[in-house]
Amino acid sequence: MAETAKLVVGSEQVELPLFVGTEGERAIDISRLRSDSGLVTLDEGYVNTGSTRSAITFLDGERGILRYRGYPIETLCANCDFVEVCYLLIYGELPTRDQLEAFRASICRHTMLHEDVRQFYNGFPSDAHPMGILASVVAALSTFYQDSLDPHNPRHVEVSIHRLLAKLPTIAAYSHKKSVGQPFIYPQNERSYCDNFLQMMFAVPCEPYESDPDFVHALNLLLICHADHEQNCSTSTVRMVGSADANLFACVAAGISALWGPLHGGANEAVVNMLERIRDDSGNVQKYVNMAKDRNGGFRLMGFGHRVYKNFDPRAKIIEAECRKLLSKMSIRDPLFEIAQQLEDVALNDDYFVERKLYPNVDFYSGVIYRAIGIPVPMFTVLFAMGRLPGWIAHWVEMHELSNKRIYRPRQVYTGPTEREFVPVNQRG
Ligand code: ACO
Repeated sequence: MAETAKLVVGSEQVELPLFVGTEGERAIDISRLRSDSGLVTLDEGYVNTGSTRSAITFLDGERGILRYRGYPIETLCANCDFVEVCYLLIYGELPTRDQLEAFRASICRHTMLHEDVRQFYNGFPSDAHPMGILASVVAALSTFYQDSLDPHNPRHVEVSIHRLLAKLPTIAAYSHKKSVGQPFIYPQNERSYCDNFLQMMFAVPCEPYESDPDFVHALNLLLICHADHEQNCSTSTVRMVGSADANLFACVAAGISALWGPLHGGANEAVVNMLERIRDDSGNVQKYVNMAKDRNGGFRLMGFGHRVYKNFDPRAKIIEAECRKLLSKMSIRDPLFEIAQQLEDVALNDDYFVERKLYPNVDFYSGVIYRAIGIPVPMFTVLFAMGRLPGWIAHWVEMHELSNKRIYRPRQVYTGPTEREFVPVNQRG
């Protein structure tokens, strides 16, 4: 007989089914709890709520494990480029050579933006944050592709996926060009995904442009590290919006907005701002560690701590190693990298951080690499969005394939006033 959990509330006992995942995780299925007992569960911030069964990404925060579709992040970073990982996440298997070539070719065909989309950029102020532009333009894509928005039509879904993957780097690079007042650079489809992005970012029409292969490598690695992270805030947002059958562009625009927050993807920008602040304050690392420990001070070490990693974040290790390699190859001594390493050393030996299991997260070193590549700080979170896109898509597709797909609709426990008598405005004191 299948194992169950028993919940005792007063004199009542409720029996709840257990669901066991492929890695042995045991979950209590409470979906019938309310109809069987009248009880709801309360879990503010969804700290211990499994919102879905998912076969995309496994992570074990205690052991610092992250795998996409069963493959360790370290293996994928060492052997794949980003496009191959996109295929793996979205379709569930590593592609054959032919499948990969067909996938790359299809993405290449969609890199240009409709010329009318280019006009949108004239309407944004020149100091517009590129995440605001990204979310707006992605949402606007749904107005250009009205013939292929049906989430239940596999051909519509396929073309929307390829369009999004292809166009996001173009949209992102144009937002940068807008901010520096340079002409937009069209995509060049013979270039690889990351090479093409770099040329759209940094080329100018009056000169030839060659990307540095080390930058292309580092960018691939960063995008792979960001490609999925199961039910995080932005991915849950994409699934939430998608559960209402909204089109893929609208869902991804919502995910971009969630990612923008400094407690989520916006942290990579916040990390570099913090490191610059420490550098300008005579590099006094200890002072900032002390500030972070003051619970009433409201200051946190950005890039430290994670809801699920309580040992180490495997992505931070990969990115720190790449950062070290890239800077030494470029013979750069970046004071921000040195401050970051000092901060890590001090914090990891401090009881406050040790007791709370606070370690550098994926964002702690990524900004130092972006700086070395020449990517301006406001673009950091945009790069995160480019990386996370295949994860959002994979989850959106998976959600639609669930046999029991339902609209996301959490419950609440109401704590406001009970019914009150209405007092007309002229009688209120
Ligand atoms: N600096 C100092 N103290 C911290 C930090 C930090 N960066 N992070 C957590 N703490 C402390 C909290 O004050 C709290 O202490 P207490 O128990 O004495 O009250 C304890 O550690 C637990 O923190 P919570 O905020 O409850 O942890 P939660 O899981 O809710 O938050 C989060 C995780 C948002 C990532 C948090 O650690 C944080 O704000 N970090 C800085 C921002 C950041 O780097 N975000 C990127 C996350 S990765 C990503 O989204 C891609």
